[in-house]
Parts: sequence; structure tokens; C-alpha cells
Amino acid sequence: MGVKSKAALAIVVLLLFLGSLWLRDSEATALDDSMLIELCPGQKFQVSLLLSHLQAGPTGPSDVLLEPYLASWDELVKFMEALGSVVGLISKEIETKTTIIRQLASSPEDDREQKPPTHTPAYRSVRSMIHVELEKDMVDFHQQTDSGCRTLLRLHRALLWLKLFLEKLADTPATGRLRSPSDLCREAYQKSLANHHTWFVRRAAELAFIAMPERTFFFRLVCVEDQVELSIVLTKVVQALEKVYNRTQIALEEHGMLDLP
Ligand SMILES: *[C@@H]1O[C@H](CO)[C@@H](O)[C@H](O)[C@H]1NC(C)=O
Repeated sequence: MGVKSKAALAIVVLLLFLGSLWLRDSEATALDDSMLIELCPGQKFQVSLLLSHLQAGPTGPSDVLLEPYLASWDELVKFMEALGSVVGLISKEIETKTTIIRQLASSPEDDREQKPPTHTPAYRSVRSMIHVELEKDMVDFHQQTDSGCRTLLRLHRALLWLKLFLEKLADTPATGRLRSPSDLCREAYQKSLANHHTWFVRRAAELAFIAMPERTFFFRLVCVEDQVELSIVLTKVVQALEKVYNRTQIALEEHGMLDLP
């Protein structure tokens, strides 16, 4: 074999080697993500979209971008709406909150030109919003206002509720029966939002959870066959959600904003 053909052979071997690495890699991710990449036909709520918005949230070492944060909420609102009319009441409340932040975030020119609003630099991220609103003295620590920070705190508390609920739905006990979504949702609520609600709202919420759909409904909602698949999908969502939640929590905590009225 001449030098040229040896070199050619070496290149072919190298390419095959790289190719096999690449294939193995892409096969692995394909297997791992196959259930998430696909859109779920016939559903308004798309778990794949929720996941991609959540994953687009974290930025830098400790910040969260507000646009993907709010886009995640759009998807979570669809999730809640699918669960029935009473949880839908909470989702209306959420929509009011996302609208407040979006209005604060949209620049005046956007309204004039009827463009889809883009976030002004001040409202690009959770931390930029906190800094700008503190600077402009927009955050009232003693009485209720419609500041972005105060509104974010409401969303943030609701996010904990959904995180706990999805975590519990993903949980598959090795033995024993799977618990009903209705019970899981109530428990998640009691550990999170209930602490911030009045007695009246708590009673109303508990009634709402009684009417929660069965577990098979959730299989259809995220296009999976069984609990094993549901658990894989939801665990990914919960991980992405927790990252966003933790970062927001730390940012609010650092500025003493966990109890804004
Ligand atoms: C979020 O914070 C909790 C409590 O501090 C921690 O246990 C968990 O690992 C964190 N999760 C992520 C994804 O950062």
C-alpha cells in the first residue's frame, strides 16, 4: 500500500469511528427524548413546548429570562385548563398576572406599531426587573401594588404548587397502588399555595380538587401509554421547572421579596 492509500484508509477508519460515535450519541438522545420531541395531536397543552420554554429560562449563573418564564406559564395555563373548570379559576388568576408583567415589559413603541411586544431590557430577566423596579421605587413592601416583583411572587408561589403536583404524579411507588391525582393535587396545594390563601379560597380549592380527572387522563394529556412513561416525561419537566423555581426563589429571597403584600 502506498502512502496515499494508507492515508486514505486512515481517514476512512477515522470517519467511520467518528460516525459511530455520532450515531451512538444521537440514538441515545433519540431514545431518551422521543416522547418529548413529538407534538401531542389533539391536545392544546403540549408538554414538549412546556419543557423547551422551561429549559430556555435559566441564563447566566443565577438568572431567569422573563420571556420564556411567561411562555412556560402560557403552557401551564393550558395544562390547568385541561384539568377542569375549577382549576381553571386559578388559571384565570395566573393569566391576569402574566398580562401585568407583559404590559410592564412591553415598550411603548410596540403598541404604536402593533408589533408583537418584545421585552424592554429592564424586563429581560428576573434580576433585571428586580433591580429596575427597586431603583424606580416601584416595589411597595407594605401595601399591595401591581409591581412586576409582587406579581412575579404570586406566579412563583403557584409554580411551587404545580412543581409539587407534577413531582407527585411522576412518583411511582415500588409497591402499592398509585394514588389519585385528586389527593396528590390537594397535598401539593396544602404544602404550597394554601399557606397564602384565605380560609374561603382554601375551601373552594379543596372542592376543585375533588373533581380532578383520573390518572389515565394525564397519560392522554402528555401522550404516553402508562405510568412508567408518564414518570419519565414528568421527571424531566420537574427538573427543568425546579431549576427555574430555585433561581427565582434565590433572587426574590436576596432582595427580601418573599413576603411582598
Ligand atoms: C433546588 O433547591 C433545592 C433546595 O435547596 C435542592 O434540593 C435542589 O437540588 C435544587 N434543584 C435544582 C434543580 O437546582
